[in-house]
Amino acid sequence: MDNQQEKVKQLISLREKARLGGGEKRIASQHEKGKYTARERIAMLLDEGSFEEFDMFVQHRCTNFGISDTQYLGDGVVTGYGTIDNRLVYIYAQDFTVFGGALSESMAMKICKVMDQAMKMGAPVIGLNDSGGARIQESVNALAGYAEIFQRNILASGVIPQISAIFGPCAGGAVYSPALTDFTIMSEGTSYMFVTGPKVVKSVTGETVTQEQLGGAKVHASKSGVSHFVSETEEDGLLVIRKLLSYLPQNNLEDAPLSICTDAVDRLEDALNEIIPDNPNKPYDVTDIIKGIVDNGEYLESQKLYAPNIVTCFARFNGQSVGIIANQPKYLAGVLDINASRKAARFVRFCDAFNIPIVTLVDVPGFLPGTAQEYGGIIIHGAKLLFAYGEATVPKVTVILRKSYGGAYCVMSSKHLRGDINYSWPSGEIAVMGASGAIEVLYSKDIAKIENPEEKAAFIAEKEAEYKDAFANPYEAAKYGYVDDVIEPRNTRFRIIRALQSLATKKLVNPAKKHSNIPL
Ligand code: HXC
Repeated sequence: MDNQQEKVKQLISLREKARLGGGEKRIASQHEKGKYTARERIAMLLDEGSFEEFDMFVQHRCTNFGISDTQYLGDGVVTGYGTIDNRLVYIYAQDFTVFGGALSESMAMKICKVMDQAMKMGAPVIGLNDSGGARIQESVNALAGYAEIFQRNILASGVIPQISAIFGPCAGGAVYSPALTDFTIMSEGTSYMFVTGPKVVKSVTGETVTQEQLGGAKVHASKSGVSHFVSETEEDGLLVIRKLLSYLPQNNLEDAPLSICTDAVDRLEDALNEIIPDNPNKPYDVTDIIKGIVDNGEYLESQKLYAPNIVTCFARFNGQSVGIIANQPKYLAGVLDINASRKAARFVRFCDAFNIPIVTLVDVPGFLPGTAQEYGGIIIHGAKLLFAYGEATVPKVTVILRKSYGGAYCVMSSKHLRGDINYSWPSGEIAVMGASGAIEVLYSKDIAKIENPEEKAAFIAEKEAEYKDAFANPYEAAKYGYVDDVIEPRNTRFRIIRALQSLATKKLVNPAKKHSNIPL
C-alpha cells in the first residue's frame, strides 16, 4: 500500500467487514427469529453516537476442527464503552451471527478487558447475552474464558453495578455470569437460561420439557427468581436497563444521581387516611401507597412476578433514589416466606452496597408457618433478610402501616436493627402475634373448660378484644421509643422526605472484618 489514503480506505473496508459480523445471511436469520444483532442492540441502548468500540480486529486463535480459516473480525462479541443519559457505561454484546455467539478465548479476553476498564473507571458494566455457550472447538480455553469472566463478576460485585440482559440462548455454565451480576433482564419468547438443556434433562431424568418451560423468561421471573425483569421485546428490555441505571450510582463510592423533583415535597395524599380496611384480614394493594408517596407516583419494580407477597422497587423522594421494600397484603397477606425473604434480602444488600437509602413499608402478619417452609429452611432464609437489614449502614426509614407481628417485626427494619427513623401509622398493630393466636396460647386451658359453644365463642371474643385494645395499636411500641412517631398517613411523603434529608450525612461503619458470614 503506497499512500495514506489507500491505508485509510483499507481501514474503512475492514471496519465495514467487522460490522457485518457473521455475514448478511446470518443477520437476516437473526432478524427472522425476531432478534436484533449485537450492534443494533448497542445502538438502541446507548446515547446516540456515543459508542466507542474496542477490539474490532481481534480474531480467534483456535486451530481445532479446521476453523483456523473461519475468521470474523472482532470474533463473537462487540465490546466498548458509551454513555446512557450522558453517564459512562461499559458494554459487551455477544454476536450470535458469529459461531452462534459461542465463547472463545479471544471473546473472553475482550469481555474481560471492558470489565477491567469499568472497574478502573468506576462505571457500570452491561452484558447483552445471546450465545450457544462455550465454543466447542476451543475446548478448555472456552471454559477458562468463562471462569475469567466469573472472577471479574465476583470482584466487581458491590463495586460497580453489573447488569445482564438475556436476548437469546444462555446455557450451561454460561448462566453463572448473569447470576453473579446484580440484575438480569430476559426478553419474552426469545431468551432462555438453563444449566442443562431439554435433551440432557430427558436423558438424565426422563422428563420431557421445552426450552421455554425449562428456562424461559416467565419461568425465571416467576418460579426461580433468576431474572428481575421480563420484557415483551428487546427494545423494552433495553429501556429497562436505561431506567434502572437512572436510579443507580456509577459505583460504590458515589451517590445515585439527584433528579429534579417536579412533585410537591409537601403533597398531602388524603386517600392514604382511608386506605387501610377496617377489617384487619382484608387486603389492599401496597403499590397504591407507594404510588401515593413517591415522586410523581413512579417506581421501578424488581422481581415483580416472584414472591409478590413482598414488593422491591426503586423510586425517588424529592429527586433522591431510594430502594423500597414493602410487604404486599394483596398476596398471602404479605407474609414472609422463603422466597420473599431471599428476594428482599438481596435487594436490601444491593441498596446498601450502592449507598441507596432504604424505605421499608411494613404490613406483615409474621413468617409463614408449616412443614413446607420449615423443611425448605425458612429459618436460614428468613435470617438472610434479618442479616441484610442488620448489616445495612445506609439511611433506613421504616413506616409500619398495619400489622407488624412477631419475628417479622424485628426483621422489617426495626429500630433494633439500626432503623434510623421508624414511624407507624395509627393503624399499626405491633405485638408478638395476632389476637386469635395469642388467645389460643394464653387461654387454651380456660377455653377447653367451657363446654357451651356459644359461651366459648363469647369468651374468646372478649379476650381477643382485650388483647386488641392492649396491643393492636402503635402506642405500646411508641411508649418505649421503638417507633419515633405515629404519623398521619396523608403526611407520609413529607415525613419520609424530611427523614431522608436529616439522614443525608449519616455515618455508620460496621466492625472491621474480612467479610461477614451471611447465612447463605
Ligand atoms: C460452537 C456453536 C455453538 C457452540 C452454536 N454454534 N453453538 N459453535 N460452539 N457451543 C454455531 C452453530 O454451529 C451455527 O454455526 C451457529 O452457531 C448457529 O447455531 P444454530 O444451531 O444454527 O442456531 P439455532 O438453531 O438458533 O440453535 C442455537 C442453539 C444451538 C440452541 C444455541 O446452536 C445449540 O444447542 N448449541 C449448543 C449449545 C450448547 O450445548 N452449548 C454448550 C453449553 S455448556 P453456523 O456456522 O451454521 O452459523 C457450556 C459450558 C460453559 O457452555 C461452562 C462455563 C463454566
